[in-house]
Amino acid sequence: MQVPAQYQGREQSYLKHRVLEEYLLAWGHKLGSLAQRRRVRLCYVDVFAGPWQAKDAALADTSIAIGLDALEAAATTWRDKGYPIDVDAYFVEKDPLAFASLDRFINGHTGLVRTQAFPGEFGKHVDTIRRFLGSDPGFIFVDPTGWKGAAMRFIAPLLADSRQRDVLVNVMFDHINRFKDDPRQFLRDQMREFFGLEDRDMPAALGEEELFALYRRQLKAQCGVEYAADLAIPHPTVERTKFRLVVGGNSPAVLEVFRDAERKVIGAEAASVREQAALRAKEERTGQLTLLAAPPATDSRYESLHARAVAQAPRDVLAQLVAEKSIAFRKLWPGLLEAHHITRTGLGRLIWKMYKKGEIRILNLKPGERSVKDEHELSVAGH
Ligand SMILES: C[S@@+](CC[C@H](N)C(=O)[O-])C[C@H]1O[C@@H](n2cnc3c(N)ncnc32)[C@H](O)[C@@H]1O
Repeated sequence: MQVPAQYQGREQSYLKHRVLEEYLLAWGHKLGSLAQRRRVRLCYVDVFAGPWQAKDAALADTSIAIGLDALEAAATTWRDKGYPIDVDAYFVEKDPLAFASLDRFINGHTGLVRTQAFPGEFGKHVDTIRRFLGSDPGFIFVDPTGWKGAAMRFIAPLLADSRQRDVLVNVMFDHINRFKDDPRQFLRDQMREFFGLEDRDMPAALGEEELFALYRRQLKAQCGVEYAADLAIPHPTVERTKFRLVVGGNSPAVLEVFRDAERKVIGAEAASVREQAALRAKEERTGQLTLLAAPPATDSRYESLHARAVAQAPRDVLAQLVAEKSIAFRKLWPGLLEAHHITRTGLGRLIWKMYKKGEIRILNLKPGERSVKDEHELSVAGH
């Protein structure tokens, strides 16, 4: 897999766009399936739209084009199956030059998706966009340059009128990490707004995990979503997190789709993306061409998070099963996917291994069944 040339030097944006694309394709496909029963309208909202740092004249390296293409694909699939869906896409951009380019792009866009762009700050358009969304399903993408203008109180109203709304927030860890403990009052206020802390101040000196646990907790509390999870986009050439994407929503499917996208993009594709970035950086440093070695199958940073999940999830499963007499897999997996970097399929495999080792029982396992299913009732062996 070759990283498109437009993303050289900002491979983190490529990974972000790949997650967005994977998530939206699955989202459009899943929610579009409702059209088999009734007319469906899906809404896509990109509130920090850009274009930003685009190098491609046709904006192919922006969330605007990537979002629209994924929505067009979903709309086309359902139309071709005989179940047309309505898709509306709303964009907001504050910078006048970027807005002019956005506006030109969507005016030139032809296809099934209807588009509308709003100039100015996201916060100023919340009420209008909320009205446009009505009570239809929606996906809200929040991708600020830092943290300014992305207050949680602006996001909450866009999730309020339907349980079928997902949000994806890009939390710029490397910027936030530098300023989160800065004592200047305006920064304290901005952090509070971003984390939805109202009149409480940010707790001091939070580590990366604690910071994101706080953001996820706040997203659930302030925006009323049942589930929230995150994935870490690595720095292309350095062993640290560049930013994290946090997803929120009310259906367990949100977590399943998100963890699948994480495994595919942050696990598999990132290995090759980072190998190419490291090679390019070395060539720039030494002036010598180097041959690309075969990258590992999984990126090392995802691998370590996944390994931690594989070690901890069985303990969490046992703890829950001890606390309750029996629990259906359907009820068990969403909480585990929220907390751990593992897919639903991967977790199912772990639980099957626990069953084979005699650590747990599957009370309603039918003869011939070889994997854990949603309806399976699990309990601790010996209980
Ligand atoms: C990180 S960039 C977005 C990148 C884009 N989502 C992508 O992936 O291609 C953030 C954009 O938000 C714009 N912006 C900054 N503050 C804003 C605000 N309060 N409301 C709306 N847009 C804002 C910036 O001008 C910039 O274009």
